Amino acid sequence: MAFSQPSLLPDYIEAIFFIMFFKGSPVIIRLQKVTKRYPPDNTVFSDIDLEIERGEFIFLTGPSGIGKTTMLRLLFCAERPTSGEIWIDGVALSSVSNSQIPYLRRKIGMIFQDFRLLSDHTVFDNVALSLEVTGLKREQSRDRVVKVLEGVGLAGKMRQYPFQLSGGEQQRVAIARAVVNRPAIVLADEPTGNLDQERTNEVMMLMEELNARGATVVFATHDDRLYKNTHRRIVKL
Ligand SMILES: Nc1ncnc2c1ncn2[C@@H]1O[C@H](COP(=O)(O)OP(=O)(O)O)[C@@H](O)[C@H]1O
Ligand SMILES: [Mg+2]
Repeated sequence: MAFSQPSLLPDYIEAIFFIMFFKGSPVIIRLQKVTKRYPPDNTVFSDIDLEIERGEFIFLTGPSGIGKTTMLRLLFCAERPTSGEIWIDGVALSSVSNSQIPYLRRKIGMIFQDFRLLSDHTVFDNVALSLEVTGLKREQSRDRVVKVLEGVGLAGKMRQYPFQLSGGEQQRVAIARAVVNRPAIVLADEPTGNLDQERTNEVMMLMEELNARGATVVFATHDDRLYKNTHRRIVKL
């Protein structure tokens, strides 16, 4: 009889379901009634509800000054909401103390609009520095950095300094640095803002590739040419 004696199986299955639902929840970013106000009275946005699924690629759009960068900074925990709650992979950001933020950021790669490369470090070191905190062995981390720089077409420029690179190349270093940790989430702030059409296409292809490998991508841009012919979800601020 199936129910005549206790079995380990149901517990086991329950545990699997628990892990699936808890860690593998389809929603990786969730905002509930999020408001951001800068004193004294600049309300950038209010009561934003948003759910982004694991593996999605969404465009965060709207004209300059509408709050795209502010939104990405909230997701990156560089800024706290005035009210409301944000969950990243099930973690409520209000429960994350400032000292815990670096751990949260291991899940997130942020591509800054203004690159923020270290001018006194080579291309290789700019990217390698992101890996130092993760405790990878030197050899592994070297291989990883070389691979990611090859991936963005900068294998030949690893020993150069940022000032020796074009804007497009610097942008690609910034992308390599953001993704070398293989983050679950990539936040890109106008990553094509300073690029010509050809470089823009290259960056778009890189972002698509990251997404195809499983990363959730939030791509902020005011440029409607980038998303008007895609099937991607568009979130207008
Ligand atoms: N640190 C800050 N202090 C005060 N106001 C800010 C700050 N950062 C952004 N803002 C304001 O927030 C609004 C949205 O800016 P931002 O998020 O940079 O827009 P976008 O990225 O869409 O161009 C602007 O009105 C800007 O002046
Ligand atoms: Mg911006």
